[in-house]
Amino acid sequence: MPVVNKEDKIVIGSEVFVPLISAEKIQERVKELGIQISKDYEGKIPIFIGVLNGAFLFLADLLKNVYVDCEIDFFKLSSYGDEKISSGNVTLIKELNCDVNGRDIIIVEDIVDSGLSIKYIEELFSRYKPAGMKVVSLLVKPESLKYNVKIDYIGFEVPNRFVIGYGLDYAQKFRNLRSIYVLEE
Ligand code: IMP
Ligand code: MG
Repeated sequence: MPVVNKEDKIVIGSEVFVPLISAEKIQERVKELGIQISKDYEGKIPIFIGVLNGAFLFLADLLKNVYVDCEIDFFKLSSYGDEKISSGNVTLIKELNCDVNGRDIIIVEDIVDSGLSIKYIEELFSRYKPAGMKVVSLLVKPESLKYNVKIDYIGFEVPNRFVIGYGLDYAQKFRNLRSIYVLEE
């Protein structure tokens, strides 16, 4: 279990992570997003496509707040490895199991950093000719965006610093934290 000390800081060697978004704030915002998406998809049956591994908690909490009929599937891209900086390469690890042709799909991401992953996913999925494709990301780092991507639903905008918790990892750890923490400068 990650060590969260009295000041609610996470210390990993010489690196210190401090609270950025509390569990309560996350739940509040996720509920708002779920309600908004439900309104926008009234009468439709969207397929939520979670991008593994990071989006698993967000997708689960989001879906608890969606009240239209929907389906879910998962998709996996290569990760950062154990580094904090993207390699700039994206490869496919797990394909979709569903047929998205003619369907309304909603891609669910944990965080959009450079935008490379989302751009790759959008290009790939558009070949399957969905009826519509939208993106919901819990977090976006606006200062870090390098690719021209449209994020339809955003939970929070965060500074261009490394964050962990609520699905987001550092070398595969800390995904189980309820809040989001940021690397102190
Ligand atoms: P992008 O392709 O540069 O937009 O990066 C997106 C992916 O990188 C996300 O889905 C995350 O898995 C990972 N990522 C980006 N920034 C962070 C971070 O601050 N903490 C943990 N993972 C991150
Ligand atoms: Mg991810």
